[in-house]
Amino acid sequence: MIKINIITLFPAMFYSFLSESIPAIAQRERQLVVTLTDLRDFSGNKHRQVDDYPYGGGAGMVLKPEPLAAAIEFIVRGKENVPIIYFTPQGELLRQDIVRSFLDTAEIVVVCGHYKEIDHRIREKYITTEISIGDYVLSGGELPAMVFTDAIARLLPGVINDPESAMSDSHENGLLGFPCYTRPSEFLSMAVPEVLLSGNHKQI
Ligand code: ADE
Repeated sequence: MIKINIITLFPAMFYSFLSESIPAIAQRERQLVVTLTDLRDFSGNKHRQVDDYPYGGGAGMVLKPEPLAAAIEFIVRGKENVPIIYFTPQGELLRQDIVRSFLDTAEIVVVCGHYKEIDHRIREKYITTEISIGDYVLSGGELPAMVFTDAIARLLPGVINDPESAMSDSHENGLLGFPCYTRPSEFLSMAVPEVLLSGNHKQI
């Protein structure tokens, strides 16, 4: 079982993601627990404000350090060696081996930034791992957090019925995927390759 604690300004973005398909199965099978922490609950002020203008000027707002620190401390209190991931285009590009490296971790914290950045002191003091999901800029870490959670969920025991299916996926063994076909054997005059219909597993 793996527990992923997500700190976000937009918990509702996760609701449908977590209630459908593989992430839902992983939770039903008690292999995955996801907690959603609304950063505004840790604002410490009645306006629930969690961002502020950047020192030195420039466009965009920065997530203040105190709410993030309070939320992280609340989650990790009394626990040791909990990886704290921050999704940022500056991080290491996510790969299948990085996903796998978290599989025997009991608990993970994921910090979703939004708007421009989070205060750098949070990165220095708390963040253990910075990950990018690609060389493009998103408006926040929520979609990367879902990408990461899905990639983990499908590898957990008993979540995908056919373990061979998870293992034989593209990237799982460094090989590219191969073309797949299902019925009908002919579609718009395009036939499924003969060998796949042959039942000769060695040749296939
Ligand atoms: N936050 C914004 N863009 C991102 C990206 N490409 N990967 C990870 N986190 C991000």
